[in-house]
Amino acid sequence: MKVYIGDSAIIAAMAADRYAELLKNKPNAILGLATGSTPLGLYAELGRRCSAGEITFKSVRSFNLDEYVGLDGTHDQSYRYFMNENLFKYIDIDIAATRVPSGIDIAAAAAYDDEIEKAGGIDLQLLGIGNNGHIGFNEPGTPFGSRTHLVDLTESTRIANARFFSSIDEVPTQAVTMGIRTVMNARKIILMAIGSAKAPIIAATINGEVTPEVPASVLQLHPDVEVYLDQEAASLL
Ligand code: GLP
Repeated sequence: MKVYIGDSAIIAAMAADRYAELLKNKPNAILGLATGSTPLGLYAELGRRCSAGEITFKSVRSFNLDEYVGLDGTHDQSYRYFMNENLFKYIDIDIAATRVPSGIDIAAAAAYDDEIEKAGGIDLQLLGIGNNGHIGFNEPGTPFGSRTHLVDLTESTRIANARFFSSIDEVPTQAVTMGIRTVMNARKIILMAIGSAKAPIIAATINGEVTPEVPASVLQLHPDVEVYLDQEAASLL
């Protein structure tokens, strides 16, 4: 793993540089995308560079990590809605070439990995991290060999994500997520984390034991992972 530390604007710009390099070399790259507050700075920077004509996503295809069960794409807390509002509407990607797992047609999850493989596999997978080490919605204990699947969300994840809903009762109890193997199949992975709340889990992810109890620790086994942290998230390294 290569670890880069800087303030949030700097790490967003550095991560955007990785996208610019990839798209220059491979304009029809397959991107694995993530939701959450962490990638917002990167997404704003990608939007800015696209508007400025510095990069284009015209030939890109994308696959998102996860989606809440029970929310369709028009629900303002669905991850499809998040992607449309925070990235896709600011870049020139063909919206028909963007995929988010369905939170309604759960049976379709079984075919998600095949769709990714048919597209040629993910060139660059973006990840945030949950306070408990989850990547996508792969909660602690998820087998490293897992493919895209249905998960029960832990109480801690529901509480952490309740800030986006009017009450905890409205936070879905399940989600569909790419599996750990799906993520590890990506040719390159960027993990981002911001803020002191992520410091303990970032230390465990980078320096701790590789264990399903810390799902992100599996990234130690991937040959091409770049980690972008602000000073607070890096404070326990
Ligand atoms: C959610 C998502 C994850 C994300 C995590 C962290 O649970 N499923 O993919 O990494 O939240 O979110 P944030 O970036 O807001 O801290």
